[in-house]
Amino acid sequence: ARTVARGADGALTVGGVDVRTLAEEFGTPAYVLDEADFRSRARAWRDAFGTDADVYYAGKAFLSKAVVRWLHEEGLNVDVCSSGELHVALAAGMPGGRIALHGNNKSVRELEQAVKAGVGHVVVDSFQEIERLAEIAGAQGVRQPVLIRITVGVEAHTHEFIATAHEDQKFGLSLSGGLAAEAVRRVLAEPALELRGIHSHIGSQIFDFAGFEVAARRVVGLLAEVRDEHGVQLPEVDLGGGLGIAYTAEDDPREPAEIAAALGEIVRRECAAAGLTVPRISVEPGRAIVGPTAFTLYEVGTVKPLEGLRTYVSVDGGMSDNIRTALYDAAYSVALASRTSDAEPMLVRVVGKHCESGDIVVKDAFLPADLAPGDLIAVPATGAYCRSMASNYNHALKPPVLAVADGAARVIVRRETEEDLLRLDIG
Ligand code: LLP
Repeated sequence: ARTVARGADGALTVGGVDVRTLAEEFGTPAYVLDEADFRSRARAWRDAFGTDADVYYAGKAFLSKAVVRWLHEEGLNVDVCSSGELHVALAAGMPGGRIALHGNNKSVRELEQAVKAGVGHVVVDSFQEIERLAEIAGAQGVRQPVLIRITVGVEAHTHEFIATAHEDQKFGLSLSGGLAAEAVRRVLAEPALELRGIHSHIGSQIFDFAGFEVAARRVVGLLAEVRDEHGVQLPEVDLGGGLGIAYTAEDDPREPAEIAAALGEIVRRECAAAGLTVPRISVEPGRAIVGPTAFTLYEVGTVKPLEGLRTYVSVDGGMSDNIRTALYDAAYSVALASRTSDAEPMLVRVVGKHCESGDIVVKDAFLPADLAPGDLIAVPATGAYCRSMASNYNHALKPPVLAVADGAARVIVRRETEEDLLRLDIG
């Protein structure tokens, strides 16, 4: 339910607000987040999985107090992977019990803060962490619920598949190597830990459900092994995030209802075959909720035609507000936002203002040939992993996040200032 449209004179509007008004009032570059779209996507996940499941929004995609409040209101939980994310979630009023803590090397301090906050579960990722967490929970006199993150051994097949479930990487405890079963033994032996279930996250920006299906089968397989060895049935499985979104017209994304149905069916079928009670399912979508809900609004600064090659269009941001093109060779589209034009399309590369030639925002796209300095352009689908991966390279000031709804815009994360940078530089 995106509210992006063209106004009477052709300028882009979102949530009923003209992008020229946004640029005038708040400046560029800016991330423009469509609140109604965010809420409807969050709700779609909640509704697709229903009351027998929990949806944890993956805060690493983008986290701010406003979005945590929206998630709270829409009945979602939050997954955090650092003390910083934990603090934002708590500051926004998310109850500790609806927060999950992730990470392959959580610090003692992060574990202490999470236990103190009463997080719903900690997803443990190593034997050392099991020991550390047991000690911390014991010292605080609580029994901490945990999930064990396992590596199910699904291989990365495609270029987009930012894979995390193959064997040769840092996350999780290997199922085939027996580390997962050993982790179960160790958690069950710790009186200060309560083993709630098994976790798997196979990767990100995935369209093909085959990997999720293998993962779900193997996770349920481990539940059956745990029952056989220990006589306990674990009540939860968490199948992670990873559903892909459309960055360009070539991507064909799947709906939350489709993945909910696919995962539910496999878990039910495998449980029936193994004689297990169907566990509670959780998922951790990040990109699929927030990714499509925001675009980045830039002002064109220079237009440089290179004879026989393409035209370089420089904007007032770049790799500091969107590193994904440089880092993953990610594809984006771009649109002229402040007006429409009948001019011929020209091949462009949208680049930033940073001191390297890899500073590319949109590698290949078409914009009207009369594009000129002062025009506003919009790069869609920048809601996930753009603000959250933004940097201060070249002492760039991180852009604000504007939430737009019902004809009004407000700043939910303000633009950085030079004073912000100098406040940290105390030398
Ligand atoms: N759960 C766990 C344990 C994760 O590690 C992740 C993402 C998610 C859930 C959410 O995945 P999503 O639904 O957003 O795909 N920076 C990269 C993506 C890294 C994803 C890291 N983990 C990018 O910009 O594409």
